[in-house]
Amino acid sequence: MQSFEETTAFLQEFENNFNPTKWEKSPIPIKILGYGEISTVLSFKNDKYNTQAYKRLPLFDSEKQASDYSKIYTEYNQLLENKNIAPPQSDAYWVKGHNGKYVAYLSQNRLDGDAIGNKIIHNHSDKEALLLFKLVLNKMTSLWQYNNENPKLLLGLDCQISNWAVKNYSKNTSITENTELLFIDTSTPFIRKNSIEQMNPLLFLQSAPKPMQWLLKKFFLQDVMDRYYDFRLVVIDLIANLYKEQQSDLIPKCLDLANQMGKELLNKGIEHKEIEKYYKEDKFIWQLFLGLRRADRFITTKILRKRYEFTLPGKIKR
Ligand SMILES: Nc1ncnc2c1ncn2[C@@H]1O[C@H](COP(=O)(O)OP(=O)(O)OP(=O)(O)O)[C@@H](O)[C@H]1O
Ligand SMILES: [Mg+2]
Repeated sequence: MQSFEETTAFLQEFENNFNPTKWEKSPIPIKILGYGEISTVLSFKNDKYNTQAYKRLPLFDSEKQASDYSKIYTEYNQLLENKNIAPPQSDAYWVKGHNGKYVAYLSQNRLDGDAIGNKIIHNHSDKEALLLFKLVLNKMTSLWQYNNENPKLLLGLDCQISNWAVKNYSKNTSITENTELLFIDTSTPFIRKNSIEQMNPLLFLQSAPKPMQWLLKKFFLQDVMDRYYDFRLVVIDLIANLYKEQQSDLIPKCLDLANQMGKELLNKGIEHKEIEKYYKEDKFIWQLFLGLRRADRFITTKILRKRYEFTLPGKIKR
């Protein structure tokens, strides 16, 4: 196992020679494991570092901002674990980026791609897929019960199925009531202490084109943050995401299950039409956002001939 200093030095060397828009050409070869709305998850193709997944976040204007963020990340992982939502073993590093930026690399044990929830619901039977949803909903209901009992310390959660993984997964694993889950998407630490958001959500605006940032701040940012603390909206997001995963056949059964299991936390049951409406809006917003980021990348790299800090996904099937 490498020391913190050794890994930091390695990541610094990587970052020095990394062009986010031409990641295939990186002198230290990488594999992209996944794209998020904001970040990129990568792994290194060398023996020393290939057991970890790294999420690259080029969002920070100072070293302090990056180290503060890393602290909150670590705290969030710990708090979730205390609430029985276990992230993989994780660490946080930060290095000096280009043009005065600092870049955080949030690391986790790298999991088998087939262990991630969206793969599971494709590769296993509908019955097992529904069991996975049941396990996820179990985790969610107990977290929100905890939140209700402890309003001074609230934890939010982004519960999409691609954010969960099956622990100790191998080829012959089937999903049962006893399957243990890991929660992987901890890079946005949703912690509210006495109603105060612990991380600075403005940081995420960095990933948007400059002219859009004030608009997002004024009209969307608070809403987007609030969403992840609201049980009903998180359930809707989880289920609506089945459209994106091309598994909409599962929606009616998942919805029944959620309404049943979440009964005490939902004022009234969620209806199918809410899921559809939400998905249409969500799809529109994220496609627009990605389209604008691509345009921004084009202007930045091809016209202004400057460095663009983010690695964007190719075409996403929705
Ligand atoms: N530890 C890991 N091992 C293997 N694959 C991972 C790991 N962490 C993430 N991935 C892959 O990358 C994808 C995206 O990761 P994750 O959900 O953490 O971030 P995200 O959705 O990009 O977050 P955000 O939207 O906040 O930017 C996952 O769905 C998974 O396929
Ligand atoms: Mg995710």
